Amino acid sequence: MKPVEISKGIYDVGVNDWNIKDFHGYSTPYGTSYNAFLVIDEKIALIDTVKSEFADQLIDNISAIVDPRKIDYVVSNHTEMDHSGALARVMHRIGEEKPLYCSKMGHKNLSQHFSHDWHYHPIENSEELSLGEKTLTFLETRMLHWPDSMFTFIKEDGILFSSDAFGQHYAGFEKFDDVVGHTIMLHAQKYYANILMLFAPLIQKLVDKVRQMGLDIKMICPDHGIIWRQSPGKIIDAYVQWSRHHTEHKAVVVYDTMWHSTEKMADAIATGLYEQGVRVRPMYLRKWHRSDIMTDVLDAKAVVVGSPTLNNGLFPTISDFLTYMKGLKPQQKIGGAFGSYGWSGESVKLIQQELEAMKFDIIEPGIKSHFVPDTDGSNTAYEFGKKIGQAIIASGD
Ligand code: FEO
Repeated sequence: MKPVEISKGIYDVGVNDWNIKDFHGYSTPYGTSYNAFLVIDEKIALIDTVKSEFADQLIDNISAIVDPRKIDYVVSNHTEMDHSGALARVMHRIGEEKPLYCSKMGHKNLSQHFSHDWHYHPIENSEELSLGEKTLTFLETRMLHWPDSMFTFIKEDGILFSSDAFGQHYAGFEKFDDVVGHTIMLHAQKYYANILMLFAPLIQKLVDKVRQMGLDIKMICPDHGIIWRQSPGKIIDAYVQWSRHHTEHKAVVVYDTMWHSTEKMADAIATGLYEQGVRVRPMYLRKWHRSDIMTDVLDAKAVVVGSPTLNNGLFPTISDFLTYMKGLKPQQKIGGAFGSYGWSGESVKLIQQELEAMKFDIIEPGIKSHFVPDTDGSNTAYEFGKKIGQAIIASGD
């Protein structure tokens, strides 16, 4: 990808990673991008780098604009290696003596990732660095989503470089929200659900803080995916809504199945939910990636989980999913458990325990089916779905 001038004197010199399909356990069918930004003024700054294997592309992109040795400052908003992997190569090319701006935790973390004795400049929150006509302001955003995370803001242009926040795993030549269109919101939702959901209280505080500071944000440049130039307010509003755990009249029925019995129960439960006016999707865990399921969990009011009993326990895919979901801390959900069994039948109790540990509201005891659900068994599952559906509608969300 060639550099793109996103605003006067400001270039995205990052790269597309077209072929990555699994980003540390998150499915990325559209690949991703590692965005990095060059700000040209009387002084020149590079904001963030890219994954190590794309270092040459980044240096080529910078060189298409300016001799890399003319860069005066390097800013690292976040240490994770998809944004710092190329740092050693880039610093070598730019000049090891150039100041490297980062948060105090960034200094600590970068020092633990790289053995180079660079000229670190750990910032104070809200510290400014003048480049001439443009000023970089550094804003600490601890735990969004690493302790080292920070934003960089150019007040004269109203541009926020937001690191991972507001990002999407999406590779494309199209670099802006108005070019890609509304479909980008689904990628943003997936990103939030799988990376940021657990930090919801911090996101609310951050948005409040940014609003109090009165930053006039005209453009948001995340380190992944498209740049929000037409509607930066739209993605901020979405983050506010998601971080408040807003839900729809919607349920997710997640299951695995050995001989289609738990699947029959899932279908009957989903039918019962649907007939109460709830949007619902049965999601078979061997066909749906857990990160796609979490995208739906984000704004669903109920999560109903089904597993056959295998070796006196849960099916492994269900254990995997429950562990993953627990870490992301979804809140204010109704939970339900179901499953078929042959002789011991522990799976339903185990699922319910996990959902209770996540503080899900268990409004109906879980249901079991011995071997294949007969007509009565299917009716029980249908009624189970109906009752959860009624509770979703009654919740008023
Ligand atoms: Fe895109 Fe936290 O790295």
